[in-house]
Amino acid sequence: MLERGKKRVLTGDRPTGRLHLGHWVGSLSSRVRLQDEYECFFIVADLHALTTRPQKADIAEIPGHIREMVLDYLAAGIDPARSTIFVQSAVPQTSELALLCGMLVSLPRLERIPSIKEMAEAAHLDVLPFGLVGYPVLQAADILLPRAHLVPVGRDNVPHIEVAREIARRFNGLYGDGAPVFPEPEALVNDGPVLPGIYGQQKMSKSLDNAIFLSDDEKTVNERVRQMFTDPNRVRADIPGTVEGNPVFVYHDLFNPDTAEVDNLKRRYREGTVGDVEVKRKLATALNAFLQPMRQRRAELAGRPGLVDEVLAAGNERMRAVARDTLERVHEAMGVDYFR
Ligand code: TRP
Repeated sequence: MLERGKKRVLTGDRPTGRLHLGHWVGSLSSRVRLQDEYECFFIVADLHALTTRPQKADIAEIPGHIREMVLDYLAAGIDPARSTIFVQSAVPQTSELALLCGMLVSLPRLERIPSIKEMAEAAHLDVLPFGLVGYPVLQAADILLPRAHLVPVGRDNVPHIEVAREIARRFNGLYGDGAPVFPEPEALVNDGPVLPGIYGQQKMSKSLDNAIFLSDDEKTVNERVRQMFTDPNRVRADIPGTVEGNPVFVYHDLFNPDTAEVDNLKRRYREGTVGDVEVKRKLATALNAFLQPMRQRRAELAGRPGLVDEVLAAGNERMRAVARDTLERVHEAMGVDYFR
């Protein structure tokens, strides 16, 4: 599996449970493709989840969330034979590297990052936990541990990758001695469309309860599509409607491969000669056709007890080997290998 010459990719998610169509559009689909060209590492960032939710009741939910999420990874086409899927907390070198990375970045630098304050607000925290301020430092350790070259992320995460780049540069400058230990990781930003929520919110999100999950059954998909918002100004089917930015057509564009059908629906929608019901019925059909192979694969995988745990055990093992190698290089470069 260790393929020389292939560049390395690291990316991942906090374990939030089942993944939805927004994840597919924003990250999963590109991850599946990246496997052909790169050596990929996919991290389940459970320690990052603790930065806003350290309560025991929240922690108790993590293993279930991890298994659901990894089932979705596998069903979507992430291939554990080619890629390393691992759990952050199962690779203790992450924490050591994060501590060392923390020496190389200033507190004000981290406090200026908008997402940190946003996460604190969303979690109703009135003071910043040290660990939350250190979120990007831990993320830098995730990225530097496999000595990754590329980090696929959403736009909101770009400031975090910038911190990782600065830490890599600083580390190489202080300790590299002409031979950099870390590549400067580059963000691979997904600048494609963001999938709106079914009620027209800017973004599909589990917490806003506006999602269609990859594992939803046909009946649920039909019901969710039926509830979907369309053009709010179009009070009757025989008046002209707006296609641009209309969630139903955003979804059609992304998931309905029958472009002739989509063009026809758009034209009639603009003319006022098609009803929402028909537009939605055709969307539900397209979505179900898109999801069916994933659902089937997921059901097969879920029917093999212990499979996900085995995939993770192998991924953790593989990542720990990579991590031991990196930490050895780090200790040697820094000269903190005395007494080892
Ligand atoms: N911060 C990412 C998120 O918003 C999750 C994450 C943790 C991550 N470690 C990472 C992403 C390393 C890319 C690389 O969910």
